[in-house]
Parts: sequence; structure tokens; C-alpha cells
Amino acid sequence: MRMTLLALALAVGAGASAQLHVGTSNVSLLLDAQPGERFEYVYFGPALAEADIPAIMATETHVDAYPVYGMDVCNPYAFAATHADGSMATDVRVESATQTRDEAAGSTTTRVRLKDTMYPFYIDVVYLTRDDCDVIETWTEISHQERKPVTLTEFASAYLPIRRGDVWLSHLNGAWGNEGNLNQEKLTPGIKTIRNIDGVRNSQNAHSEVMFSLDGKPDERKGRTIGAALCYSGNFDLSVNTDASAWHRFTAGIDADNSAYPLAKGEVFVTPALALTYSDAGTSGVSRNFHRWGRKYRLCHGDTERKVLLNSWEGIYFDVNEPVVKEMMGDIAEMGGELFVLDDGWFGDKYPRTGDKSGLGDWVIDRNKLPDGISGLLKAADSLGIKFGIWIEPEMANKYSELYDKHPDWIVQAPGRDPIYGRGGTQLVLDLGNPAVQEHVFNVFDRLMSEYPAIDYIKWDANMPIKNHGSHYQSADGQSRLYIDYHRGFENVCRRIRQKYPDVTVQACASGGGRANWGILPYFDEFWVSDNTDPLQRVYMQWGTSYFFPAMTMASHISASPCHATHRATPIKYRVDVAMSGRLGLELQPKHMTDFEKEFSKKAIETYKQIRPVIQLGDQYRLHSPYEGDGVAALMYVDEPRDHAVFFWYKTEDFHNHHYPRVAMDGLDPDKMYRITELNRIDDNPLACDGQIFSGAWLMANGVDLPYRHGMPYMSDYSSRVLRLDAVD
Ligand code: DGJ
Repeated sequence: MRMTLLALALAVGAGASAQLHVGTSNVSLLLDAQPGERFEYVYFGPALAEADIPAIMATETHVDAYPVYGMDVCNPYAFAATHADGSMATDVRVESATQTRDEAAGSTTTRVRLKDTMYPFYIDVVYLTRDDCDVIETWTEISHQERKPVTLTEFASAYLPIRRGDVWLSHLNGAWGNEGNLNQEKLTPGIKTIRNIDGVRNSQNAHSEVMFSLDGKPDERKGRTIGAALCYSGNFDLSVNTDASAWHRFTAGIDADNSAYPLAKGEVFVTPALALTYSDAGTSGVSRNFHRWGRKYRLCHGDTERKVLLNSWEGIYFDVNEPVVKEMMGDIAEMGGELFVLDDGWFGDKYPRTGDKSGLGDWVIDRNKLPDGISGLLKAADSLGIKFGIWIEPEMANKYSELYDKHPDWIVQAPGRDPIYGRGGTQLVLDLGNPAVQEHVFNVFDRLMSEYPAIDYIKWDANMPIKNHGSHYQSADGQSRLYIDYHRGFENVCRRIRQKYPDVTVQACASGGGRANWGILPYFDEFWVSDNTDPLQRVYMQWGTSYFFPAMTMASHISASPCHATHRATPIKYRVDVAMSGRLGLELQPKHMTDFEKEFSKKAIETYKQIRPVIQLGDQYRLHSPYEGDGVAALMYVDEPRDHAVFFWYKTEDFHNHHYPRVAMDGLDPDKMYRITELNRIDDNPLACDGQIFSGAWLMANGVDLPYRHGMPYMSDYSSRVLRLDAVD
């Protein structure tokens, strides 16, 4: 690896100012890092021309780039600490600024070292940019040489001032079975905080990613838009403070409440990265920046197509038994699927996992249910030509488990108080800050994989929050480390697992979509979007989730009708068409499908395999949002050369003689001609556009004429269309 310390283009002007340009091809962050002075922010937005920078430096308002608490306490701050001598005031100045170029990686690291004016106390603000994506990752590294520990009480990863105006915030919220809801609101005076304190999972109720639309109400296709994603798996706090100043002051980082961190002399506290991006192409443009960056630099196996799978959960729940499981494996193989995943219910000896009250922690096969064990299932999968995957929930235990009998001190528990139980009234969270627990969690994975190396996929679940505060492992004065050390422990285990098992596919599930975050995705291939597989609600949830995560991360399964979560009945085409816009899978008992449903799904699986590279590795263009309330949603994927695309159209409301908006396409090459083919066709009558050739220019200006409904006998409340576009010479 060749690293070059770039002579910093600190064009030190006549005044006390030193420009520091952190840039990607299309995005610039301009800072003032004059040694001995305050570290200041000047600009963030579209890439700057070098020729403009001196005048910008001289004329734009400079504001704190990373304000700390102490000498300007009436203003928002990103950092606060109690120093060894008890002082709560910190005051820092730039000590140095360096830019290091790594030619092999095509990346540049910018490091601004801030030093307290009184104490040997340092904050390094770091920025990482890569040549081929428009995301700036930024974080801080905090250290000191004071006599005693310094207690960190606020430690945002980043601070970004955003000029006041008609600025709108987009963020996701939800609940179990209703994850990834998109909220868009104008920023008004006051503090808007998006926060999660679940302790274990962090994306069910709120999400640690946001967008700021600078030109008024967010638009999917146009408008200056900033995106920010905190890459962390634990409690977070994203706040926008709109006060009397000219700025919306945005801070993002670990939630510091009840997490004061005692930083030892010489220790370095590294905050999680905040991924920052900018696009002129609206919210969809920012999403594409995140998707590309994620697939290339953050997501495990971001360049590899995912398999089509059948997961057993909604098909059989805890009723695991060998003949049924083997039958399901045969069915998915026959339908063209590539992987079968055995969900919860396969384990437990002394305390069999017959329901959610027992067995968690005891990762031994229940021989009553599976006499031939995992080997038998792997053999069956092999003979069917499919792969096999299995469910675990290694961070947890049940009160009724041999693990808890042996290690009652491994659980998270308030000192001296009774344990607090979660799912099933018996579930407990293991204290991952404890190295012995980390070893246990690693071993759960390691034992399975070393004993059964043919396992292709692990579904890693986590179904309980931290409900009480306390660690048997931490010292009395270290109790506030509980949350942070939990996630450090989690990451340590994930890192070890990936070192040893780089190839296995791992899904992050957490009571559905509780772990959709960029903190875990370096170790996980995908996440379960929600336990709710109702296709209508999934249109909304997947729309929201796609704001920050690419299609290949979003496990999206065809399930039974009526849906188990909502009891809504929907036609198979609608269920298939919605599931196909993400990582396609099935979540049902195939033997309960009608012949028609089975045949339709089988054809769709075949089709999906052909279009999978475009959906999973292409660029997403969100075209018409279901949240607009117009009764229709449409999106498309386009491959990089803009030769192939797939267009999805869903009706979300059905009223007789109601008119739905015509949807123009996006992302195509205006000069190329594209042949349209309808996929998953259910009507007897082909669409008028089927087989026709249109220019990209026409399609992007007009789209195609689509009937609002399917013909009889397929007419229902739920219409959907999938079109494939292929460039022709
Ligand atoms: C919660 C998950 O979200 C489900 O998909 C399933 O795996 C269950 N846990 C199993 O207990």
C-alpha cells in the first residue's frame, strides 16, 4: 500500500486562514484549519472549482466545524467532557492538518488535530474520501495524557451547519411490523431529535440516517439534497438545532445519555463514522450515492448477487420437523429457488425450543424434531441442488436454558435487582461487553460453521432490547459503559467471524427490521426489512428503506395471502411484483400455495434470476412516491451502461374511474432505443407497449401508457406491472 502525505494545500492567506478542501468528484467540504486557531467550517455542497476557493474562503461566513462545550456554552456543541481536574470546560485549537493519499485504495484521509488550550487533550477530526464515490466519511478520535481518566459526556461523530432556509428533513421511523416509514417535515425553530435507545437494535423505531432537502419539500428527482448516515449499531442521537443563528446545526453520533465514557490516559475513543453526501438530483440522487458507496465500500459482498431463498418462519413457525422441512426444501428446489433457510425452532435439548419461552442459548439440535440433524438437512439440500441456511439468536438466552443455568452472571441485569424478561416472558440479553460472552457468541457461529462447513447462510436474529441497566462484568464505576461496550463487543465478534468465515451469507434480523444500519453491514449481507410481508405495506416500507439502503440489502419475501401480519388478501402477482423489487425470497409453506400461485412464482423466480443483476447491482431511480398519496408508486433500476432497466409500478389505492398519474422514467440514456417487455404478465391481453421500441428520451419525458387495472378474471384492488427495458441497436 503506497501512502503519501500530501503537502497540504493550506493556502495560508494574509489573514489567519488556511483552506482545507475535502473533496470527491462531485462534492466539496471546505474547512479552515489554520494552526493555532479555531477549526472552522466554510462550505459543503457541489464540488468547488479550485479557482473559486480563495474568494469563498475570504467571503463566506466561517463557523465552528466541531464545537466543544466550555467557552461558548450558550451555543450547541458536538462534544463535552469532564477533565481529570473536574473542569467541564474544553477549548480546542487546530494543532495540525494532514492529508494522506493512498494510491492503491484510491482514497484520501484528512486529519485535523485539535488540542485543548490548557490540557494534553486531543480531538482528531477525520475525513475519508474515495475517488469513485461521492460520500465523505467523517468521525473523531479522542485521546489525552491527563493524569486521571477524562469522562466523555457528549461525543458526536460529526457536526454540520446547514444554512437556514426552506430546509426539509427526511427520516424513517416505525414500529415492529411497520418499519421504514418515511417522514418529511420542514425544519422549524427548536430542536428536532431522532434518537434510539433500544440498546441492542437501532432501526425499528427510528433510523440513524437522514436527508436534508435544501430547496423546499423533498423531491425524488430534483433539488439540492444532503444525506447523512451514522454507521453504528447502537443507541444514537441525531439532532438538528434551529435557533437564533443563520444555521440549522446538525449533530450526529452515539447517544451519550447514560453512557458517560471514562477515557483512560493514552486510550483512543473512536466515534462511528458519519457518511455524508450531496446530490442535485433530489432524494433519489442522494440514495444512489449511498447505494453505490455502500455496495462498493461498506456492504459485505456488495458486488455479489444474492440467492433466491425460502425461509421457513411464516410457513411452519416453531413446528420444525424433518419430513416437513425436507418437503419444503424439495418444493423450493422445484420452483427454481437456490437456498432454504431453517428459521427458529430447531434446537434445545434439556429445554427444547417448542416456543419462544425456552432454549435460547442452547445451540444443540433437537433430535426429536430433526433425528438426522443438520447433516441430514445439508445432505438433502445437496441432493436437491440447493444450499442450506439456518437461524440463530446468539446474543440472547432464555431463563429456561442450560446456558442461563450455567452463567446467570452473563446477562444484562441491574445490580442487585431481579432480571427483566423480554419475548415470551423469559428472554434475556447477554452482556456483550463481557469478553466471555463475546467468546460464547463467536463460538455459537464458529461451532455451527466448523461442524457444518456447507452451511451457506446464517440468519442472525435479536429479539429483545436492553430493558434494565447493569453489567455483572463492568466495575461499579464502569456501569455507564454498558451500551457502548455492548456494541464494541458485537463488532469484535462480527469482525472475528468475518475473518474466519468471509464467504458465508449472513442476514441481520432483529424482530424484523431492527438492524438496518450501516454499522453492521460490513459484516452482514442483508437485513430483514420487516416481519410484515404484506405487499401493500411493503411498498411503503421498502420505499422508505431504499432512501439509504440498496435493493440487495433488503430481504423481500413472497408470503401467503391473507398476510399473517395484516390479514390483507392480495393476489399472487402483487405479492411477487413487490418482492421482486428487493432481494427476492419466499416466506410461506409452499404446499399451501395453489397450483396457479406456485406456477406463477416459479416463472417469476426464473425471470428474477435474469433481471437480478440490474436490481441488485444497478442504480435505483424512485419515480413516484406512494407517500404522495396519488394511489400509485413507481421505481426503476438501471444498470451502469444504461443498457438494461427494470420498471416497477404498483397501485396503492383503487377507486373506480379514478385517474392515476402518468409516470415518466429516469436514468436511461436519452439517445438509446429500448425494447419493452412486460414481465410477470397475468393478463390475457398484452400491454400496448409490450415489444415496442422507444427512445430513452421519450421514456424519460413521458413513460408509457399503462392501464389502471388487470383484465378479468385478475381484476382486483391490487394492480401492478413490471417492465423490462433492453437497449437495442
Ligand atoms: C423474529 C424474526 O423477525 C422472524 O423473522 C423470525 O426469525 C422470528 N424472530 C423467529 O423467532
